[in-house]
Amino acid sequence: MKRMRENGNGARAMREASLSIVALFLSFLWTAIPGYGQNLTGRWVVSGRVLDNGEQSKSIVDLKQSGNELTGTMKNLDYAVQMKGTATGNHFELFAAWSATRPFLVGDLVNGELHAMERGRHNLVATPTTAADDLPSVSYIEPPPLHDVPPNGLVKTPPMGWNSWNLFEGKIDDPTVRAVADAMASNGMRDAGYIYVNIDDTWEGVRDPQGNLQSNHKFPNMKALAGYVHSKGLKLGIYSGPGPRTCAGYPGSYGHEEKDARTFAAWDIDYLKYDWCSARNIYRNEQPVLQAVYQKMGDALVASGRPIVYSLCEYGWGDVEKWGPAVGGNLWRTTGDIRDEWSSMIDNVEKQVPTAVYAGPGHWNDPDMLEVGNGHMSPDEYRTHMSLWALAAAPLLAGNDVRTMTDETRAILLNKEVIAIDQDPLGKQASPVKKGDLETWVKPLADGSAAVGVVNLGPIAALATVHASDLNLGGGGNTARDLWAHQDVKFKDGEYSQTVPSHGVLLLRVSAAR
Ligand code: GLA
Repeated sequence: MKRMRENGNGARAMREASLSIVALFLSFLWTAIPGYGQNLTGRWVVSGRVLDNGEQSKSIVDLKQSGNELTGTMKNLDYAVQMKGTATGNHFELFAAWSATRPFLVGDLVNGELHAMERGRHNLVATPTTAADDLPSVSYIEPPPLHDVPPNGLVKTPPMGWNSWNLFEGKIDDPTVRAVADAMASNGMRDAGYIYVNIDDTWEGVRDPQGNLQSNHKFPNMKALAGYVHSKGLKLGIYSGPGPRTCAGYPGSYGHEEKDARTFAAWDIDYLKYDWCSARNIYRNEQPVLQAVYQKMGDALVASGRPIVYSLCEYGWGDVEKWGPAVGGNLWRTTGDIRDEWSSMIDNVEKQVPTAVYAGPGHWNDPDMLEVGNGHMSPDEYRTHMSLWALAAAPLLAGNDVRTMTDETRAILLNKEVIAIDQDPLGKQASPVKKGDLETWVKPLADGSAAVGVVNLGPIAALATVHASDLNLGGGGNTARDLWAHQDVKFKDGEYSQTVPSHGVLLLRVSAAR
C-alpha cells in the first residue's frame, strides 16, 4: 500500500514535472519568440515624479494588442496622446501621429510591469490598474462670446528681458531669479533694454481653500521677489495657462482666470506668458475657440487694473497673428519650442515669414526665446540667431545663464546696434527678399534707412552681395554700417560684398541714398 502510494506519488511528480517543462517551454515561446510576447492589452497607471508643489503626477496608459499590433492612448492632466505601434516579444514601441521615427513610448514588459522611456526623455514604470482608476475629471466651462479686449498700450517695441525656461527648466527658484536680476542690473543688460525677468513654468504651488493659487516652496514670497526685481529697475514676469495643468504638470488657470489675474496683480507682476498646454484636452484646438479662451484671460488682466504684458503661447495655432491683438495680446508664439540648435532656430524664424504683416507696435510675432550662449551653436550661428530675431522684430528674451556668460555671449546679446534694429519704433518685421543658400532679409526702419541681413545657410563660406536696388531706398550712393564689425562700409556701383562664413551673417544698416 505504502509502495503503491509511493508509486502513485512518483507518477504524479513525473506528470507535474513534465507539465512544468511544457509550461516553461510555452512561456519561453511566449516571451522569446517575436510576436509571442504577453499580451499588453489593459490599463496601466504611471505614478510619475513628485512636483515641487508636493503633488504626484499620474498618467494612464490604455493599450490594445492584436497580434503584433498595438494601439493605445497615454493621458495625464497635461496631455492625451493617441499612439500606434508594435509589440515584439516583451518589447514594444508606440508612436504618436507626429513622428514615425521617434517613438513616444518604447519599452519592455518586465515582471508584469511596463518599463518604458517616454519621448526619449523620461523613464517610467507602469503597473496594471483597474478600469475604474482614472484621472480626476474636469467639468467643461464654455468659453465666452468674442469681443475686442482694449489694448493695454504696453511694449510699443518688442519686449526684451530674460526667461528661465530654455536653460533652467524646473531648476528655477527665488534666489536664482534674484541673482539673475542682480546680474542684469550690473552687466549692462538692463541698460541695453532687457528689463523683463520672466519666471516660466514650475513656480506654482497648490490652491488654497478659497481657490487662490499659491507659489511653491521654491518661491516663498512672490510679492517680495517682485519688490526686489523692481528695486533693480527691472520687471517681473510669470507663467500660467488656460488649461487645468501647465506643460510641466503644475496647476493652470482653468476656471480661475479672474482670480489668478488678481493674484498676479496683487503680487505686482508685469508680464504673463499664457501657455495652451493641457487646454488642448478641454477645448477644441481651433478657431474661434482659441481666441475665446485667450480673450478670457485678456479680459481678466484688464479687470485686474494692473498693466501686464500678455504673451500668448499656443504655438501659432488658429492663425493667432490675426486675432492676437483682439484678445489684448502683446506677443504670440508662432512656432513650437525652440531648441539650442541651428535647424530649430532657422525653422522657427522661417515660420515667421507669412506672419510679417501682422507685427507692429504693441503686438509682436514671437519665434520663441533666445538660445544665445547656451552652448550648442557656434558664435557665428548665435550672431545669426540674434540678427534674425532683430530683423524679425522678435521679442528678445535671453534664455542663458546671464550670471556667468562669456564675453563672446555678452557681445552678442549686448550689441546695441543690433538691438536698435529690433527696437526700431516703426515696428516692421523683415521679410526675405532673396532665398537660396544666401538668404537676404530686409527690414524698413523709422528713419528711412533699412536693415539688411544676408544669412549663409550653406555649408561653406560664400560671397554675400547686397544690392541697393533690393532695399527700396532709391539710387546709389548709400552709406552703410556693418553692425557686427561695428564699422562703416561703402557701397560701390550700388552694391556691397563681403565673404560670410557658413551659418554666419552679414548685417548692415543702410541709409537712404542722398
Ligand atoms: C511649453 C512652452 C515652453 C515652456 C514650457 C514650460 O513647452 O512652449 O516655452 O514654457 O512649456 O513647461
